[in-house]
Amino acid sequence: MKKKISPSLMCADFLNLGAELEEYERLGIEYLHIDVMDGVFVPNFALGTDFIKKLHRATDIPLDIHLMIDRPDAKLGYFELREGDLVSVHYESTPHIQRTLAAIRQAGAKPVLAINPGTPIYVVEDLLPDIGAVLVMTVNPGYAGQKLIPRTIEKIVRLRKMLDGAGYPEIEIECDGNISFENAAKMSRAGASIFVAGTSSLYISGTSLEENLKKLRAAIE
Ligand code: DX5
Ligand code: ZN
Repeated sequence: MKKKISPSLMCADFLNLGAELEEYERLGIEYLHIDVMDGVFVPNFALGTDFIKKLHRATDIPLDIHLMIDRPDAKLGYFELREGDLVSVHYESTPHIQRTLAAIRQAGAKPVLAINPGTPIYVVEDLLPDIGAVLVMTVNPGYAGQKLIPRTIEKIVRLRKMLDGAGYPEIEIECDGNISFENAAKMSRAGASIFVAGTSSLYISGTSLEENLKKLRAAIE
């Protein structure tokens, strides 16, 4: 499976975003990761609906929208989803997760089931026909700059095995949280194929986006 990078835009230089977007296009970035938080499902706030609409107009790079909000089903219409976009919803965020995943597919985007470090992988089993990917949180969601929860690497191995064994080798594993160059290499070997790049890799200060990206690609290949 092709390895793809999804820069976490909550870590971007907002005052220089236009130039950063041009750089992502030039460097062949596969996705743009947008963290949407409601201060309820997770304590923090991050990016929102108007930002997403503006990004859709500014770039053809598919968006990777990570909804850390309660009852995402009621909010899907806010995002003007495009074919090729990924939309992640957390297993715990709605009592009717299958319906929400189906609504994402109906809207033309790729449904992704997000699981927290404490969410067991067996919850994925009955949703296999409804998803294009699983987002494995490798930190608890809500903040950039946190430290990896080590057991999540082995969790990726178990999940990859379960997906392949169940006859779904095409379902991708995305990982999010403390994806340093070192952790990225381990996650890639474990079976992940989409990597959310934040303060631990792409946005390390002192080196350019291009240099950091090159290092990250080398780590996951
Ligand atoms: C939350 C975010 C963060 C973060 C990733 O869902 O996506 O995990 O920005 O970058 P790090 O953990 O490297 O700061
Ligand atoms: Zn995220």
